[in-house]
Amino acid sequence: MLAELRALRGHDAPTRGGRTFAYVYDAGLDGLDELTAAAYSAYATVNGLDMTVFPSVARLENDIVAAVAAVLGAPGCQGTFTSGGTESILLAVKTARDHARATRGVTQPRMVLPSTAHAAFHKAAAYLGVQPVVVPVDPVTFRADAGAVAAAIDEHTVLVVASAPSYAHGVPDPVTEIAAAAAERGVLCHVDACIGGWILPFLRRAGREVPPFDLSVPGVTSLSVDLHKYGYADKGASVVLYRDAELRRHQYFAHAGWPGYPVVNPTVQGTKSGGLLAQAWAALQHVGEDGYTALAARVADASDRLLAGLRATPGVRVLGDPAAALVAFTLDTDGGPDLSLLLHLADEMRERGWYLQPQLSFDGLPPNLHLTLTPATADRVEALLADLADALKAARALAPVAVDPALAELAAGLDPDTLGPEDVAGVLAFAGLDPNAGLPTRTAPVLVLLDALPGPLKERLLAEFVGSIFRI
Ligand SMILES: Cc1ncc(COP(=O)(O)O)c(C=O)c1O
Repeated sequence: MLAELRALRGHDAPTRGGRTFAYVYDAGLDGLDELTAAAYSAYATVNGLDMTVFPSVARLENDIVAAVAAVLGAPGCQGTFTSGGTESILLAVKTARDHARATRGVTQPRMVLPSTAHAAFHKAAAYLGVQPVVVPVDPVTFRADAGAVAAAIDEHTVLVVASAPSYAHGVPDPVTEIAAAAAERGVLCHVDACIGGWILPFLRRAGREVPPFDLSVPGVTSLSVDLHKYGYADKGASVVLYRDAELRRHQYFAHAGWPGYPVVNPTVQGTKSGGLLAQAWAALQHVGEDGYTALAARVADASDRLLAGLRATPGVRVLGDPAAALVAFTLDTDGGPDLSLLLHLADEMRERGWYLQPQLSFDGLPPNLHLTLTPATADRVEALLADLADALKAARALAPVAVDPALAELAAGLDPDTLGPEDVAGVLAFAGLDPNAGLPTRTAPVLVLLDALPGPLKERLLAEFVGSIFRI
């Protein structure tokens, strides 16, 4: 069985070795993977559902939250360990919704989001009945426009969001200004530091300039930080912090109205393995502040080299001024972004053993390729740039992929809510997403079509496609 499991991994992108520039965080530290695996295994059977029966989970969680609060918190703050960024964000939105109902009587909650806020906020909005109010970001810097965010706040607003930094372009929002605008209106402000929260403070410690973004900023009332990103813990580790216990109280769910055991769930899950806590605890202790500082410096140095190489490549436009670890670039032809060339480049790079993440255009923001840098990628930057130059030459030699205008028009007229299964299968097959044919090896034709479709239709087709992968 273990051999079969290992063999299945052979078809995956590598998670170690610095060639996969999204989804994976490789500290490149000898022994860390073995340590976290052993820590997980020691706690795998412990149930975090009841910390009175398993007091070790309370000790581990208190240690982790204290370590995070010491770096990102403020006096009196309280927190919770969760399974990831999405869960931390869901909980912060639930907390804001319930707090606004209890303290201000808000019954039609809204949340103000810069357009670059992570999709998890939209998921939380959909799950929790909160209306997202999306505010465009500056099209040149890709940062949230604090004035526009302030103007979007009204009496229904339960939460205002800022990213430190955004996932899409890796640029930090003006947290101080956004938090001040929220505070002035008596509204809560969440900083999404899921990806940046465990690298930015250490970059600062390494001597880089990092604008203030944590709970010490006046008006910031909650913050999320993922330890399974730049904390280098295994997946399933995040922390959400609140300014005080009175706010965090709204996150908890308690239920005594059934004949079973009294339920108090601080998070979304009921039963949860103590293993995730234990491995995150071990990673934090093992790497330590000096270790995180050295790793952050390594990522920043890699980012400097990558940015210099990208900026020196004709046709490449780096988007915004990235904070260090995340880089997004587009390719311009005749002054505008060239989606087809960009996607051909991603495919060419994949054939050369690199994964760069395509991101489609949105509301005037250009399509781009996203790179998440980690310490393991630091030694790869020059090799990446060399292959990029070669792949770009190959991509330019390929015929551009274009969407048949008649198909785009036809697709634009489809109503995603009333499409039947056959219509969906037909469009998917036309888009090159025939589940029976397996995953396409070249993604450019599919993504060019998806890019041209209206958002709701795109979402329906993607959901159907993923549903078709999980067949049973
Ligand atoms: C800024 C930001 N927020 C939220 C998330 C969602 O985190 P997760 O994928 O752990 O649920 C991410 C993930 O990349 C992120 O970068």
